[in-house]
Amino acid sequence: MPSLADQGMWLPLLLKDLNEDRMQELGMRMTAEDIYSINEGSLKDAIVSFGGYCTGEVISSKGLLLTNHHCGYGVVQSHSSVENDLLTNGFWAMSQEEELPNPGLFVSFIVRIEDVTEQVLEGIDANTPDIKREGTIKANMEALSAAAVAGTHYEASIKPFYYGSEYYMFVTETFTDVRLVGAPPSSIGKFGGDTDNWEWPRHTGDFSMFRIYTAPDGSPADYAEENVPYKPKRFLNISLGGVEEGDFTMVFGFPGSTQQYLTSDAVRMLVEETNPHRIAIREAKLAIMDGYMQASDKVRIQYASKYASTANYWKKWIGESMGLERFDAVGMKMKQEEAFMNWVAQDADRQAVYGNVLDNITTELQKVKPANLPYHYLREAFLRHDGLNYAGLLYQISSTPAGAERDELVAEARSFLKDYDPVVDKAVMREMVSMYYKNVPEEYHPRSFKKASDPVEGFYSGDWNTEAWLDANLSDLSKALNKTSAVKFLMEIQQMYVQVREAYNQPQDRIDELTRLYVKGLREMNADKAYAPDANSTLRVAYGQIGGMEPADGLLYKHYTTLDGVIAKEVEGVAATHEFYVEPKLKELHADRDYGRWTNAEGDLPVGFLASNHTTGGNSGSPVLDADGNLIGLNFDRTWQSTMSDVMYNAEICRNIAVDVRYICFIVEKFAGASHLIEEMNFVNEMEPAEAE
Ligand code: ARG
Ligand code: GLU
Repeated sequence: MPSLADQGMWLPLLLKDLNEDRMQELGMRMTAEDIYSINEGSLKDAIVSFGGYCTGEVISSKGLLLTNHHCGYGVVQSHSSVENDLLTNGFWAMSQEEELPNPGLFVSFIVRIEDVTEQVLEGIDANTPDIKREGTIKANMEALSAAAVAGTHYEASIKPFYYGSEYYMFVTETFTDVRLVGAPPSSIGKFGGDTDNWEWPRHTGDFSMFRIYTAPDGSPADYAEENVPYKPKRFLNISLGGVEEGDFTMVFGFPGSTQQYLTSDAVRMLVEETNPHRIAIREAKLAIMDGYMQASDKVRIQYASKYASTANYWKKWIGESMGLERFDAVGMKMKQEEAFMNWVAQDADRQAVYGNVLDNITTELQKVKPANLPYHYLREAFLRHDGLNYAGLLYQISSTPAGAERDELVAEARSFLKDYDPVVDKAVMREMVSMYYKNVPEEYHPRSFKKASDPVEGFYSGDWNTEAWLDANLSDLSKALNKTSAVKFLMEIQQMYVQVREAYNQPQDRIDELTRLYVKGLREMNADKAYAPDANSTLRVAYGQIGGMEPADGLLYKHYTTLDGVIAKEVEGVAATHEFYVEPKLKELHADRDYGRWTNAEGDLPVGFLASNHTTGGNSGSPVLDADGNLIGLNFDRTWQSTMSDVMYNAEICRNIAVDVRYICFIVEKFAGASHLIEEMNFVNEMEPAEAE
């Protein structure tokens, strides 16, 4: 298998120095300057952070924006009702007038990136105590970002890289009139649902389309009727040239977070303690939700999205642990650490600077250890618990004076109750309390755990988690709340969390400081090797090649899928909300092989493909680009085996999953009949039509 790839999500402004040669060696026909340049018109001008949690890209001169279906999901849901179920049926604006505004949604472009390390670290040297260091850095950062955007409508944020060895400033321009243009039915956009999530072979058309609007003068503005489509500095061309094994690809987007520099002890704690417990907690929750969802259609709909989001990382962590164990991440890290210590031992100066760094990290980790389980338990079992969050919301309402802010909170409470079932909630809570009781040492038990009475019964007594109760008690919520035990239990949990978080974070902060030193040493030791900084939700480039993989002995994953696979996965006779429902229209197009210009060289309709780009959460919606920077696909997932790459990347195993841009165009044109959108786009590398046989 060709598996030429390098780990790392790289900073666009460092590509020239660190990556350009290697990227060209792998087949790239661009320069670093084509990807990122402070002069207008590089690829970066087509990339946005979508809503702060996903990536999107501009694909026409009229501000048309492409991102994942699962990134636009909440927005589509907000326009949906039982009578007008856009989630299930899909939505296509047939003209700009029909495009739907979305208050609260925004996209941000990167105007420029600057290395501000020197300025941020001004006034600091190797002897500055940590506490002083922190304050100085914060003050420097605030002054720098304020100065960078003075007199503009831009924003600036500065983030640490390599645990604070370097600092980069990101100047951004944010647009707040972002309208929904189109989304396929969930049976296409979410085809395969949770069963196929993190899996290959994949047949999901995970895309949706938006359009950015600006004030008539081109500046960012909130929604207004007079607004006009955004005129981009740059938009992506779409390649119909297809994907061949070994082709160069890159992913350009906003990866959220990775932990590449954990030490062996930290990986051991993750694999042996943190992951197994949080997996078990989620598994218990999923089983309970599933039972009630199977028994009632109402609950099934209410809990669909909660179930999906709980299942997403449940499955991710299982894959991550399996991968880390299979490739002996702990052993590999230990070897790395041994090599580091050998290098340190060769030189007295090194010994003075780095001699204790790994031991010190271990010492701090031992301080984290007792807090680790309670910390993750409290977060997973209680901080994410619906009933507790609702009690918190009621408490917040009760202490907010009457007015617009309070009205908004009350509206939030009402909409929360729409997707809430007290019976399910209580069953989950009972299991959470029981698991916490069994697995977390007694000193971390909230007080009511120790009393004879049942804390769960206490928490739920008094019907405070119903709409009727809210209606009846709105006028004097705090008095009514005082008569329940709910808020008392909430406070106990919160107090316990504050205490545990402190115990957990203090040594963690110290570990971050020490990791700065460790990574500095590693980079010094292998001065000619490029080390990538961990992801931190800033704009990055990952590069690799198109290619399948060998997930297990004797098993091969091909690098692409086709519409034939969608049809093969169909479960016949099921409702349109089923994971493997296939729309009649799609079946017809398949039966007639009515694929238009969107086929591959074999005349099949490509759907998904695999490549070896190092990606993570937040890269959803990122463009997958070819050697010339043309769009070939839309990133939306990784294979299950690859989820280990947040901690340790392995080029043989790790693959990102993309939906082929030709499938997207096929759905837009042939399935949805939205040809006016196709006409906006610019296509390159169109193949000769295949000869009829
Ligand atoms: N696993 C993908 C990502 O982490 C897709 C998640 C959405 N899809 C789903 N079936 N839940 O976020
Ligand atoms: N689905 C993920 C997201 O929402 C991307 C997949 C991954 O974690 O690599 O960002």
